[in-house]
Amino acid sequence: MELISLHDVHKTYPNGHQALRGVDLSVAKGEVVAIIGPSGCGKSTLLRTVNGLEPVDSGTITVAGHEVTAAGTKLRDVRTDVGMVFQSYDLFPHLTVMKNLLLAPKVVQGADESAARERALELLERVGLADKADARPRELSGGQKQRVAIVRALMMQPKALLLDEITASLDPEIVREVLEVVVGLARDGMTMLIVTHEMSFARAVADRIVFMDAGQIVEVGEPDAFFTAPQSERAQRFLNQLVF
Ligand SMILES: Nc1ncnc2c1ncn2[C@@H]1O[C@H](COP(=O)(O)OP(=O)(O)OP(=O)(O)O)[C@@H](O)[C@H]1O
Ligand SMILES: [Mg+2]
Repeated sequence: MELISLHDVHKTYPNGHQALRGVDLSVAKGEVVAIIGPSGCGKSTLLRTVNGLEPVDSGTITVAGHEVTAAGTKLRDVRTDVGMVFQSYDLFPHLTVMKNLLLAPKVVQGADESAARERALELLERVGLADKADARPRELSGGQKQRVAIVRALMMQPKALLLDEITASLDPEIVREVLEVVVGLARDGMTMLIVTHEMSFARAVADRIVFMDAGQIVEVGEPDAFFTAPQSERAQRFLNQLVF
């Protein structure tokens, strides 16, 4: 079953920059797709269009049964089903971890507080942060904050997760603890669209690699095949420039 699909998506920013130039992509339920490519090629834009954070000029986007690009679609419903985690964790600094986690389920879903609290503790346990429920974000390391941000996205019981450079602002030795959480989610069958600069992570976690350049998907491949023998000259050049 297709959970995310984009068909001929075009997006131009108000300054005239064509960030997406005819993107077709579909992600099956339980599939993990990693989007890679040079800075400015449109990866974040693509991700943001999927949950309606960024309007498009033309094309259709469907996710978890919601036609995001149709007039009248309630974006709040889309975002309940599709969680997103960014590079900056943007937790509310004055609230404890638990309160940060309970906010969206209470406000958006009107969830029962004790059930939500139980779920939060369960998820915190799973990412190794059971003892941090009452801590405030400033008392956490970057990796811990990012794990809380992932838990926050999971609180809504999303059908899919969109992850945009979630390790980009972390120290190298902390990157691993966050990536391990994502690997665990992939193993559990979570559908994910992941933008990353961590090539070894992309190779390990993804079912498919999508390589973008200048607003277009240039190449799609199985991770091992893509990284050992990329077909397009552009992807070859990109991989050759990287320092592993
Ligand atoms: N709000 C905006 N207004 C105008 N142009 C924008 C805006 N956001 C992004 N762009 C431009 O659109 C292009 C794609 O940006 P995007 O953020 O999607 O790239 P990216 O692939 O995520 O890059 P990076 O790897 O650096 O995060 C870039 O050239 C960028 O300058
Ligand atoms: Mg980006």
